[in-house]
Amino acid sequence: MVVPPTPENLERAAQIIRSGGLVAFPTETVYGLGANALDATAVAKIFAAKQRPSFDPLIVHVSDRQMLQQVVREVPEVAEKLMSRFWPGPLTLVLPKSEQVPGIVTAGLPTVAVRMPAHPVAQALIRRALVPVAAPSANPFGYLSPTRAEHVERMLGERVDLILDGGSTEFGVESTIVLLAEKPVLLRYGAVTLEELETVLGSLELQVGPSENPLVPGQLPQHYAPRTPIRIAPPEAIPPGLRKRAGYLAFQQVPKGFKVVKVLSPTGNLLEAAAHLFEALHQLDRLGLEVIYAEPVPEEGLGRAIMDRLRRAASADAPRVLDHLTTPAEQ
Ligand code: TXA
Ligand code: MG
Repeated sequence: MVVPPTPENLERAAQIIRSGGLVAFPTETVYGLGANALDATAVAKIFAAKQRPSFDPLIVHVSDRQMLQQVVREVPEVAEKLMSRFWPGPLTLVLPKSEQVPGIVTAGLPTVAVRMPAHPVAQALIRRALVPVAAPSANPFGYLSPTRAEHVERMLGERVDLILDGGSTEFGVESTIVLLAEKPVLLRYGAVTLEELETVLGSLELQVGPSENPLVPGQLPQHYAPRTPIRIAPPEAIPPGLRKRAGYLAFQQVPKGFKVVKVLSPTGNLLEAAAHLFEALHQLDRLGLEVIYAEPVPEEGLGRAIMDRLRRAASADAPRVLDHLTTPAEQ
């Protein structure tokens, strides 16, 4: 059930989390599918609802430093620096985990991914739940991330106890993930840009995949995929004959001859483009098109996260058919 984030509904949602249920909630990046991070049985429900393989670890969301202390063993100085600059916000840090965090959350890894979301609804939910909240993006494994409550409802509606509706998410791409080992390593491009991280860290190592031998499963090449095949190509590379049956995901300008076109940002603003990315793909994916072509965007700032998601969506191995979902024609 989709409900507005009134104080009563937030209390109800917090109660569901405390009693081991699942709540979908907005964050500033994408919607999350949350459960009590300290309750292994509750967390198992997330994996079941998403049909997510158990080797793919989850991000734990905290509302304050005290909760952070509950889930990590130590906070290195470099983490302090990053937190003071980017928290609350869309940066996830991978740190040594505390004993309280069940192995199912971290897929058996000795580290845990944590972030303090900036979205007021996410914050209020975690604060009221009084426990850290494990939450992956609220989509079936491998499919497009949700940026609106109705995306969650359509994809996972019956599998979630409550969906809090906070409107469209601000960034539209997931958090940036940084592993803090001896050296900081960037694991996923996301809403905090590489350029912003570099202002704090100087340089950092990149292990952002897609990789056939990923360090963590979230780096698998096939991810974030619509069911319609997607190809990355500038408009001039697509012959007119193919355009008639295809959708085009354009960056700035509307090219001619396509069956349908979505423009990410008429002014060429990457922040705006990222915010519209998954919504545009969700819409195109429901039209029963033969193929969706996507225009490459400049690989700077948020453009890196956008291109990362597009490349994975376009990966030949992307799961096209998710049998627990209805087909586009049925929707
Ligand atoms: O913006 C976001 O981060 C959203 C919202 C809901 O917060 N969450 C999200 O979660 O994108 P998810 O499950 O879609 O991505 C989590 C990814 C994993 O696939 C993995 O790549 C990485 O986080 N991860 C989690 N734990 C890790 C660990 N211990 N070491 C390395 N990477 C880890
Ligand atoms: Mg995800």
